[in-house]
Amino acid sequence: MSDTALEAGASASGSRHTVDPGRPEHPSGDDRFALVDTHLRRVHDAQDQLIETLHVAQDVFGFLSDDVLLYVARALRLPPSMVYGVATFYHLFTFEPPGEHTCTVCTGTACFVKGADDIVADVATAHGVHVGDTSADGRLTLRTARCLGSCGLAPVVVLDGVVHGHQSPSGALALLDGELGGVR
Ligand code: FES
Repeated sequence: MSDTALEAGASASGSRHTVDPGRPEHPSGDDRFALVDTHLRRVHDAQDQLIETLHVAQDVFGFLSDDVLLYVARALRLPPSMVYGVATFYHLFTFEPPGEHTCTVCTGTACFVKGADDIVADVATAHGVHVGDTSADGRLTLRTARCLGSCGLAPVVVLDGVVHGHQSPSGALALLDGELGGVR
């Protein structure tokens, strides 16, 4: 995507971006930008924190819209085309809104050795969804993640933002049944 396309995306969203030194409230009124700002302040707007910042933005917004990518680009004083290029290079980032429910299975080392891949496979099969995608009925988005920082709970599944440790394929499916009402 070109810088112009990103600018157009931001304009179409109706948001204006103000990334001044004081970072007042985002003009869109969306408080989630303040959470990204907190991270940006913590890393002193360092350009080498781009990937980490994109992770934070995705955690906060659920996906990386053109609007958010442009915000990050301006905050880090980087060309939007570069930010978009980096974001699309890594499969961990997603650019579409998530489904009604989001299931993220950690596939970091600790979770992997304890069977995370089996959890991913069973959830994908049971709900007819590929990793990184949303089911056809829009009810479930399945994601994987690098280490979520809770290795002592491996394998870890995060369902709608709630961390569930020591999971198994059957346990994860039961969690999903409870959350989605058993509808598959
Ligand atoms: S590897 Fe999964 S939480 Fe650390």
